[in-house]
Amino acid sequence: MVYLDIVKSANITLVKSQPLVAVVTGGTSGIGEATVHALATARGKDGKGLRVYIVGRKEGVAKSIISECLKVCPKGDFRFVRAEDLSLLKDVDRVCTEITKAEEAEMATDQKPRVDVLVMCHAHLSFEGRHGTSQPSLYHYVIPLF
Ligand SMILES: NC(=O)c1ccc[n+]([C@@H]2O[C@H](COP(=O)([O-])OP(=O)(O)OC[C@H]3O[C@@H](n4cnc5c(N)ncnc54)[C@H](OP(=O)(O)O)[C@@H]3O)[C@@H](O)[C@H]2O)c1
Repeated sequence: MVYLDIVKSANITLVKSQPLVAVVTGGTSGIGEATVHALATARGKDGKGLRVYIVGRKEGVAKSIISECLKVCPKGDFRFVRAEDLSLLKDVDRVCTEITKAEEAEMATDQKPRVDVLVMCHAHLSFEGRHGTSQPSLYHYVIPLF
């Protein structure tokens, strides 16, 4: 078993040592929000570049999270990306397109957009039985695995 302090120290080293692009779904609450704060705190005031896409449904909550993050990580780039329902493939595609375009805008012409850290915390799964969706969804692919 790896000790927690070793895991924390390795995570901080990773976030500080190189520029990172992170995408956190469900980033406006719970585990996702805590992850966004942890990234900002680890990067702090002296790490290398950090850009975090906070994918969520509540822009007001995201604004307040961003403002807290900027206090501990003033040079970080924190952006809200609105999700409607990430259990639907069309919404996943739309969010991915928006992030890809935003990253393309940041890249030099010979570079390709990339995501270094992907944390998926949107609570679209339920253990209360199957809920159908009106359109093709991730749900249909995931549930049969249980
Ligand atoms: N907390 C735990 O101890 C724990 C343990 C094991 C597994 N998990 C699983 O980990 C996931 C996250 O848990 P959490 O405690 O962080 O939950 P949470 O606090 O309820 O956060 C869930 C986030 O997902 C968003 N969300 C929910 N449904 C969505 C949808 N259809 N499309 C887009 N975004 C959606 C919510 O947005 P809104 O704020 O707009 O509603 C919220 O930001 C859940 O699936 C949970 O079952 C949690």
